Amino acid sequence: MQKIKTLLREGDQLQKTKPSPIESDSFKALKKESVYSRKNPFPAEVLKNINLNGRGAVKETRHLELSLKGSGLDYKPGDVIGIYPENDPVLVDMILKEAKWDPEEMIILSNERQTVSIREALLTYYDLRPITKSIMKKAAALTSNMKLQQFVSRENDSKSKEYIKGRDLLDLIHDFGPFNLDDFVSILRRMPPRLYSIASSLAANPDEVHLTIGAVRYEAHDRLRKGVCSTMCAERIMPGDKLLVFVQENKHFGLPEDPNTPIIMVGPGTGIAPFRSFLQEREIVGAVGKSWLFFGDQHFATDFLYQTEWEKYIKNGTLSRMDIAFSRDTKDKIYVQDRMLEQSKQLFEWLQDGAFFYICGDKDRMAKDVHETIITIIGKEGSMSREKAEEYLNDMKNRKRYQLDVY
Ligand SMILES: Cc1cc2nc3c(=O)[nH]c(=O)nc-3n(C[C@H](O)[C@H](O)[C@H](O)COP(=O)(O)OP(=O)(O)OC[C@H]3O[C@@H](n4cnc5c(N)ncnc54)[C@H](O)[C@@H]3O)c2cc1C
Ligand SMILES: NC(=O)c1ccc[n+]([C@@H]2O[C@H](COP(=O)([O-])OP(=O)(O)OC[C@H]3O[C@@H](n4cnc5c(N)ncnc54)[C@H](OP(=O)(O)O)[C@@H]3O)[C@@H](O)[C@H]2O)c1
Repeated sequence: MQKIKTLLREGDQLQKTKPSPIESDSFKALKKESVYSRKNPFPAEVLKNINLNGRGAVKETRHLELSLKGSGLDYKPGDVIGIYPENDPVLVDMILKEAKWDPEEMIILSNERQTVSIREALLTYYDLRPITKSIMKKAAALTSNMKLQQFVSRENDSKSKEYIKGRDLLDLIHDFGPFNLDDFVSILRRMPPRLYSIASSLAANPDEVHLTIGAVRYEAHDRLRKGVCSTMCAERIMPGDKLLVFVQENKHFGLPEDPNTPIIMVGPGTGIAPFRSFLQEREIVGAVGKSWLFFGDQHFATDFLYQTEWEKYIKNGTLSRMDIAFSRDTKDKIYVQDRMLEQSKQLFEWLQDGAFFYICGDKDRMAKDVHETIITIIGKEGSMSREKAEEYLNDMKNRKRYQLDVY
């Protein structure tokens, strides 16, 4: 794995440009203490990179520990880290071969500040991920390939929509190439950073930040596809390497100010990450508020992420209770919301006592179902209509007692 690339160090210059409007006031306050930001990422040394899943697991979830020493970067439980990844060299070399481009040919990057070899640019600067309709249209304008031009025509809208599913630049070049190198590079997008929920407390781990990263791998169109950042971390990052990172404040997800407040945390899979941070923080400040964690994943034997840490927290009282749901150990799947329903009376009592309720992890299925379940529980245990139960939850939301960090 190559260490930090010069290309992404352009932040030194970019730092002088206007801050993006999405940066919040308190984020700016953080920046006062640190010169490092989204536009000027910090090269954080990797201290640890281990697989949390046991032998035989279908999944690979990496636990990364990074050093923030000397960065002046600060974070609180609930915040996220941005990582600027590099593309897989195997994919880059396949693209170069397919396109018949000379890897050493020099090109001017779209920021017009640097001239680098095309191989270097594809590794570190450009986004090679799933293509979009817009890229298809731009590519069609670069070639006389009638097949591609017909593909992007309005009559073929549904065909091109279908085509882009699960395909990347290698497919585009293979199916519709050749393309002129300089023209092709002009239509590429810059690699975006990937965000990860912070899994540590700074108070408990001075100068460090920990992350929980699930490797994204899937088969599409007869080729194994790999998520850029997650598989870079899983396959090519070793202790001693450096990752370009920044801290992004999460104003809408964090511990209650009063450490006496009870908290209920629902975090299956990688959704567990911020709750490790919450509990580390609560342990170190000696919070007396009760805490309840719901965790789920595929198998107890291989996928019980951070199991020994939860056991320690249960023992020392940092965690008041924990419910687990392993979906693939039984004939019928058991999910975190099934455990919530089993405990609906106590769960509602906690809410009545002012507990904050948190959900982190999969947005499309889990978070929706857990949301529905909490409405069901409020309705049942509070003898309320669905409308009233939704009002109850909305009121919690308005008081920041119902918080989501889903992706
Ligand atoms: C606020 C926030 C917090 C997050 N926290 C975490 C965290 O703590 N841990 C964590 O692991 N992730 C987290 N994520 C997700 C993370 O940011 C990345 O999206 C994830 O790691 C994938 O990035 P990648 O570069 O590996 O994959 P990419 O190269 O970005 O590829 C992902 C894309 O591949 C496609 N894809 C994925 N699976 C399939 C499939 N089966 N079939 C077809 N296409 C598919 C989809 O288009 C998907 O968007 C978080 C996201 C956000 C927004
Ligand atoms: N946008 C992205 O690029 C990106 C990248 C990475 C991950 N993600 C999302 O993040 C999620 C987290 O991934 P992960 O691998 O850590 O965990 P996960 O896939 O969410 O799996 C964790 C546990 O949740 C279970 N589950 C599945 N559907 C559920 C539901 N409707 N309600 C409750 N639990 C449910 C799973 O069971 P079963 O699997 O046995 O059904 C498993 O036991 C992924 O599902 C994915 O959607 C998105």
